[in-house]
Amino acid sequence: MPHPVGFKAKHDTIARKYPKSCETCHGKGNEGCNSCHHGTAMDWTYDPKVPWKQQHPAAVQAKGATACFECHDPTYCARCHVRGNQ
Ligand code: HEC
Ligand code: HEC
Ligand code: HEC
Ligand code: HEC
Repeated sequence: MPHPVGFKAKHDTIARKYPKSCETCHGKGNEGCNSCHHGTAMDWTYDPKVPWKQQHPAAVQAKGATACFECHDPTYCARCHVRGNQ
């Protein structure tokens, strides 16, 4: 584990500030982070072979949107869904 103790609790702030620095190890566009956010963190079996954008409707159906609001504001979904620019 390359991260210091207590890193996880503040990783969201650090990730927002230096997103590129994570890509070296967690993959392009930080794709690797998905297996936790859209996997273990919400008890969903994340499939790394399928883009999350394609998987998320099934996850919402299985877990409910409440699971998403642990991390996302409802306006986050509206960004794509209301404006129709999916
Ligand atoms: C071991 C699980 C785990 C891994 C790996 C992980 N995260 Fe997170 N992340 C979480 C959890 C849980 C939250 C919810 C808020 C919290 O507890 O900090 C979160 C929240 C976030 C948020 C805030 C979400 C929002 O929209 O408010 C950002 C940004 C973020 N993570 C970025 C990253 C990036 C970038 C990576 C990979 C480089 C990463 N995380 C890897 C568990 C993880
Ligand atoms: C030098 C390589 C490297 C870099 C750079 C890196 N990580 Fe990681 N990270 C790892 C490894 C290895 C693990 C542990 C194995 C795993 O979960 O993939 C890990 C685990 C994590 C976890 C889970 C921690 C836990 O306690 O479960 C989070 C959250 C995380 N990284 C976020 C980030 C964020 C955010 C960045 C950028 C600011 C970042 N990482 C940059 C290699 C790196
Ligand atoms: C543990 C935190 C966490 C949970 C739970 C979570 N997300 Fe995310 N999600 C993130 C982070 C972090 C990102 C990437 C950074 C960002 O765009 O905010 C992200 C990105 C996304 C994206 C953008 C993907 C893209 O390709 O642009 C969608 C769509 C999404 N999430 C939908 C969902 C849905 C639907 C749920 C619930 C079924 C959910 N998320 C649950 C943290 C989470
Ligand atoms: C980056 C843009 C984007 C974001 C952000 C996003 N979605 Fe989606 N969503 C899409 C696209 C594109 C589809 C159609 C996917 C398909 O059919 O493969 C979709 C489809 C869905 C569906 C299937 C039903 C329908 O309307 O077609 C649900 C449910 C859903 N999204 C929920 C959510 C929730 C909940 C969030 C926020 C947590 C969210 N989405 C955030 C782009 C997004």
